[in-house]
Amino acid sequence: MRKSQIFNYQDGKLHAESADLHAIARQVGTPCYVYSRTAIEAAWLEYDDAFNDRMHEVFYAVKANDNLSIIKTLHLLGSSFDVVSIGELLRVLDVGVDASRVVFSGVGKSVQEISRAIKLDVGTINIESLEEFERIEAVTNELGMSVNVAVRVNPDVDPKTHPYISTGLKNNKFGVPIEDALELYKRIATSRWITATGIACHIGSQIVDVEPILEAVKQIVLLASGLEALGIKIKTIDVGGGLGISYKDEQPPKISSFVSALLGAVPANFKIALEPGRSIVGHTGILLTRVELVKQTAYSRFVIVDAAMNDLLRPSLYSAWHDIVTCDEKSADEIEGASLCDVVGPVCETGDTLATGRKLSVLEGDLIGVLDAGAYGAVMGSNYNARLKCAEVLVQNDSFEIIKARQSFEDMVKIEREYLIPE
Ligand code: LLP
Repeated sequence: MRKSQIFNYQDGKLHAESADLHAIARQVGTPCYVYSRTAIEAAWLEYDDAFNDRMHEVFYAVKANDNLSIIKTLHLLGSSFDVVSIGELLRVLDVGVDASRVVFSGVGKSVQEISRAIKLDVGTINIESLEEFERIEAVTNELGMSVNVAVRVNPDVDPKTHPYISTGLKNNKFGVPIEDALELYKRIATSRWITATGIACHIGSQIVDVEPILEAVKQIVLLASGLEALGIKIKTIDVGGGLGISYKDEQPPKISSFVSALLGAVPANFKIALEPGRSIVGHTGILLTRVELVKQTAYSRFVIVDAAMNDLLRPSLYSAWHDIVTCDEKSADEIEGASLCDVVGPVCETGDTLATGRKLSVLEGDLIGVLDAGAYGAVMGSNYNARLKCAEVLVQNDSFEIIKARQSFEDMVKIEREYLIPE
């Protein structure tokens, strides 16, 4: 679903699907995240359908949005899950997912995490280094339990995305340099409890050009045939995260074209695994926030809102662009005539800026929305400035449900009060 279909004006009021965002803000308060269930389902199905009858598995990357109801929505569709911590694994299991449907990635899994994941019978562990292999081997020897693994290779391919979210270059901390992978697979083959079933790769996030991904896949396919020549048979090629989305003017290909390119690049005897996060939930979420004050100085016009960098960190951390929309429809003339504003939060940092230089016709008390906030939004939230974590809402058609209550002050301080130092 296009975002203009998800978030649309009806009788001059912005709706998510057919639910009035003003009504949600009145009932739930602001700031709050609102997600469209229909759009989340459509995005996941777009991936799954595009594979037709080719062997595949779509693992939703839980890090993008780990709300239990969102995980459950995808579980009900038949999704598998990519997790990067024991916490994410437990979240997924909490809504009834079978551990065999989970791939455990991440560059620094602790001994405890590895041991617990193996005891829980996790589907696959993606190994990120020789050192990690040795750690996993020690754990399996001690437990006397087996585990399937894939080696995450680092193909040294430039994904042409923001440097903070680029992961497949040789100087990045991720994966095993592809030239060292063969030796590692040979070591794994000698291991009593560890079976290599796949090769994995993830070169970065917010990728809108599939060429670098195809380049990485080419190298993986070569590696797989090198392994086969040694008698090591790989079943799955995991190409990592999904496509980027359009925040401003990026033009990612359609999910179906991306998947057909993958089908062309991976021989049919391999199962293809994908770990999309952003493209499943990113465009399906809005951060609703109310204008506290409009502060005009001789130099700038600040729209000070009740959401801040602790609610949505992306603009502060990556200078990321998010479109800002008003929840009351404005005419083209009103927008044209509006002054340029910076949308800022109440946190005591200049970096607490959600958007700069936007034409916005708004007044104190108005409700506005930050678009494309469904991925890496609420999950990256914090309590900075002792601000409470946002409520989250899931919409379907014209109805909505709270899927995460706003944090209370009591919730926030409980784990400190219990440990308060004595007089
Ligand atoms: N698989 C692995 C191993 C990953 O590291 C990631 C994302 C994904 C899958 C999902 O990638 P996606 O389909 O979402 O592109 N906080 C940043 C994004 C960090 C992404 C980290 N890894 C942001 O707000 O842009």
